[in-house]
Order: sequence, then C-alpha cells, then structure tokens
Amino acid sequence: MKHVPEDLATFGGTPAFATPRSVGRPNIGDRAALFARLDAALDRAWLSNGGPLAEEFEQRVAAIAGTEFCVATCNATAGLQLALRATGVLGEVIVPSLTFAATAHAVAWLGLTPVFCDVDPLTGALDPEHARSLIGPRTSAILAVHVWGRAAPVPELEELAAEHGLRLFFDAAHAFGCTSAGRPIGGNGDGEVFSFHSTKFVNSFEGGALVTDDPELAARARRMRNFGIARAEQVELIGLNAKLNEAAAAMGLTSLDSMERFIAHNRENYYAYRDGLAGLPGISVLGFDERERNNYQYVILTVDERRAGLDRDTLLAILAAENVHGRAYFSPGCHQMRPYADGTRLPHTERLAAQVLAVPTGIAVSAADAAAIAGIIRVAITQPAAAARAA
Ligand SMILES: Cc1ncc(COP(=O)(O)O)c(C=O)c1O
Repeated sequence: MKHVPEDLATFGGTPAFATPRSVGRPNIGDRAALFARLDAALDRAWLSNGGPLAEEFEQRVAAIAGTEFCVATCNATAGLQLALRATGVLGEVIVPSLTFAATAHAVAWLGLTPVFCDVDPLTGALDPEHARSLIGPRTSAILAVHVWGRAAPVPELEELAAEHGLRLFFDAAHAFGCTSAGRPIGGNGDGEVFSFHSTKFVNSFEGGALVTDDPELAARARRMRNFGIARAEQVELIGLNAKLNEAAAAMGLTSLDSMERFIAHNRENYYAYRDGLAGLPGISVLGFDERERNNYQYVILTVDERRAGLDRDTLLAILAAENVHGRAYFSPGCHQMRPYADGTRLPHTERLAAQVLAVPTGIAVSAADAAAIAGIIRVAITQPAAAARAA
C-alpha cells in the first residue's frame, strides 16, 4: 500500500506489481473444455465453413442478444462491413468519433464516407441532435456505438433514422450481454455487431457477430460472408471471406460458458475502483446504470487536469511505473486521426479524448489489485505537484 508520493515507483519506490496489470489481458476460460472442443473438431476434420461449433456459437449468441438471427464472423470489423454492404448503404454514414478506429474504417474501407458526430459530454454516447444536424442528401445510415458497453441513445436514434429514411446500425463491440431499457442489446436498429476479439470479456481469439431480426439482411450477410456463394458453385453476390472458423468458435463457446463468472468478477473490480476513487478531486469513474444488465468490462476514468492537478497522460505514466498499464481509450477521436483529419472540430469528443483513461480489469486483475491501483491514483492526486515532477 502506498501512502505518500515517495512510495511511488516514479519516485524510486518499488513498483506496486511485480507482473503487469494491463487493460485487455484476455480472460481464459476452462482449458479442458476448450481442448475437448478442439479435439472433436479435429476428429470431425471439419475446421471451417459453418461447422457445428460455429453454428452452436451463433445460436448461443442470438439467444443472449435476443435476436432471431446471428451471423458469426471472423471479427467485428468484417461484421460491420457485411451489415453495411448487405443493406446497400451508399454515400455518407454518420459515426461517432469517440470510438476505436475500426468503426470508421469499416465505413471508409467500403468506399463510403464516415461523417463524424460529437458525443454527450458526460457519457460519450453519440449525440442525436448533432447527428441530426449532419444529415444531408448523401446520408444513408447512422452507425452508433455502445461505447464502453453503455447503450447509445437507442430510441432517439431510431426515431431520427425513421424520420429521414436512414439505415441504423450499432457497433456493439463492447456491449455483448448488456441491456438497453431492459432489452438485450442486439435487436436494435437494422442490426448490431459484437466483437469477440481477445481483449473482449467473451472472446473467440478473433471473432465477431452480426445480430438482427431482419431475415433478408441475415441471409445476404451470410452469403456475403462466404464469397457470395448461395449454393454449391453458385455465386450470387460479391462477397468476402469473413467466416468464423471452428477453433475460434471452440474458444468462443468456452468463453461463453464462463461469461457469468467474468461479469461478476468485472463487477467486483468496478466497485473496488469506484469505492477506492470516491471523492478524489478531478477523478470520475464513469458509472453504469444499475437498472440495466452490464458486462462491466471497461472501467473508465476521466481525469480533469484542472481539479486533479495532473493530466491523464502523466497519470498513465505514473501507473506504468507501478506496472499498471492503462489505456488512453479512445484518444484521439477518429476525426483527428491522420486518414480522417480535415479540420473538423468536435469539442465534447476532444475534451473526453484528452481525459479518458481505461484502467485494468478482467480475470487477471483481482478486486484487491483494483483497490491497490485506486490507492496509487489517490496518492498521485493528493500530492499532484510532487507526482507530476517525478513523472
Ligand atoms: C468500438 C469497436 N468497434 C469495432 C472493433 C473491432 O473489433 P474486431 O477487432 O473484432 O474487428 C473494436 C475492437 O476493439 C471496437 O472497440
């Protein structure tokens, strides 16, 4: 336990952790179950192309998402592209800037134009009123993000999309297992896309899933996922190869088996951070709506330099010296990344991007670890000048 700035590793103290505590360290489920599934796949000699494990994975994901259809993909980026392409989206797509680059890239890679929208200054959720102001003659869709697993304003966006005849999709990469107004995230808009990348709390090494209640979208996406093939040797659409292979599905199923344990663990960590950081000037822990079901996979702090006396990047450096590897997640906003920077200014996104800090959680981080990390932050913030000098 650290009590004074001199205890901090950045001042020459012993790092709080001998081994790293990092954002995005994979949750590993039951290895024996994983190997049994892999063995069965090898015995079947059925390794991809809609194998039984991928099918089972789709059924279980659809059940959790509360949707009729699930099209499992090799990653979420491909899932987003399938959703946009299968619905014939053209021209401009409104996206938040405060997101992982993949959201914007999925749009741009299809030759569409991402139009960056600002967010709510407190929650980071896409601002429907700003989105409204960005709608023009070339707009054909909105791709919102349930950023950090907190639901985007679904009803407002559904209304806006209906009013203007736009397609509406949700990048739900962070929001598997969550609800919005008590309904599972999955069935909103035209379709939603989950990520099962290794860093996600449920993972399939790499993987994703497009979920929807639209039979036509599901059928087209399913074909496009497999080179546009409808039946043997019959190619009906331009497609890509975005299939989920059996090894990935084996991992995904094994991860699903432990999903409740992962959520409970993340929840404990979130409370440990929240309690440990309570009342600290300039540090806020982004809350969860406890009326909803949350996956608690991202614990997000904001660091207000004026009140904390330290900026986010200094705090990241102080933590790194303790072997605690947080992330400036997401910073910068996509609109300020080189491929997209055109002088657009989004004040709320830019302020949040400068302040947000994701702290480590997941199975590799215990609640005691989270409390200790909060303790480090407390020492750094209580003596900010000394800590800043040292960093
Ligand atoms: C918001 C968001 N969208 C999309 C993706 C892309 O997911 P994938 O790596 O499965 O393609 C990520 C990945 O972390 C993400 O955070």
